[in-house]
Amino acid sequence: MKKSIKDFNLKNKRVIIRVDFNVPIKDEKIIDDNRIKMSLKTINYAIEKGAKVILLSHLGRIKTLEDKNQNSLKIVSNRLSELLGKRVIFIDTTRGEKLDNAVKKLKNGDVLLIENTRFEDLNGNLESNNNDELGKYWASLGDIFINDAFATSHRSHASNVGIASNLESGIGFLVEDELEKIGKTIDNPKRPFAVILGGAKVSDKIGVIKNLVKKADFILIGGGMAYTFLKASGCNIGLSLIDEQSIDFCKQLLNGYKEKIILPVDSIVSKVFNKDITLKNNNEFDYNDMALDIGNRTINLFKDILKNCNTIIWNGPLGYYEVESYSNGTKEILDFLSKSKKEVIIGGGDTSSAAINFGYKNSFTHISTGGGASLELLEGKILPGIDAIDNK
Ligand code: 3PG
Repeated sequence: MKKSIKDFNLKNKRVIIRVDFNVPIKDEKIIDDNRIKMSLKTINYAIEKGAKVILLSHLGRIKTLEDKNQNSLKIVSNRLSELLGKRVIFIDTTRGEKLDNAVKKLKNGDVLLIENTRFEDLNGNLESNNNDELGKYWASLGDIFINDAFATSHRSHASNVGIASNLESGIGFLVEDELEKIGKTIDNPKRPFAVILGGAKVSDKIGVIKNLVKKADFILIGGGMAYTFLKASGCNIGLSLIDEQSIDFCKQLLNGYKEKIILPVDSIVSKVFNKDITLKNNNEFDYNDMALDIGNRTINLFKDILKNCNTIIWNGPLGYYEVESYSNGTKEILDFLSKSKKEVIIGGGDTSSAAINFGYKNSFTHISTGGGASLELLEGKILPGIDAIDNK
């Protein structure tokens, strides 16, 4: 079991907290501040316990000077300050005298945010390659390291693994919650246990399917990936998305787990994107039909199975949900599950965005803050950012 922030005496200590403030920003405005809000519990706890709080996060991917100019954490610092109701000391550099002096001046309860850790990537990918010297330097700024950046925990970077290798370490409340809700649910689900999978490509989900097909009672498949399965089962899918390289995998899976794997029986199709929106059964596709959402019979089929299940994990939208005409399947299943009082885990990335944007933020047992990280957890992988943390 990993050490938690609660296992440390934080008073007078410089506590480095790795958070994930990688939030979407458009026209200098934060579009979705959920990740910042979700980190408040750990930050406020450290403040209340009298720590000198030092925050580290990345924002975007930094490959050019232009990326650097567009991805300062200053905007995030302002929003964090509003949410905490106190001044956040923002240091516009990732190392050096200015940062060292600001850390030296910190008083108990102060919060300091260091500039985007990935600015160090312009200097030979030092952050992303977990450069030894950089990890040691950041660790030298603190006494204790807390990883609360679940969404970055599938990365082995200087600002998580690098610091944890050089300092006493633990996990924060957000990471604890994600591991508890996702990890323990997979290991010990209340049965029947259903997994809903969607998204574009089968190849992105092969690891998840392999890990969960033995554990789940049902795997319901929608989204673009369903049509590779339908093709593998002999259906004409017209011009729907196809992942040719995964056809053999789908065939094997359908042969081995016929009763468990539930595919769409009808779909919303178009010949031209967002035009001539038509509902068709599997055997009615024209050669130039493109399936972009599950149809009503499929929605009812999924609901019939889900109503008897007690645990549901969902990763990947069931249609092209960003466009209103193809969002019905995802919305209907979200709505149905939100009223079901079942244990429902929404597993990150697009599925979490859909749940939050369609108004179901507080309707489920858990909505993950991690995209790639939650996928790797569902695959049964050990996340390096968690693995590097001290055990109790
Ligand atoms: C995410 O948004 O999934 C995390 O912040 C990790 O970002 P990355 O994929 O750029 O490492």
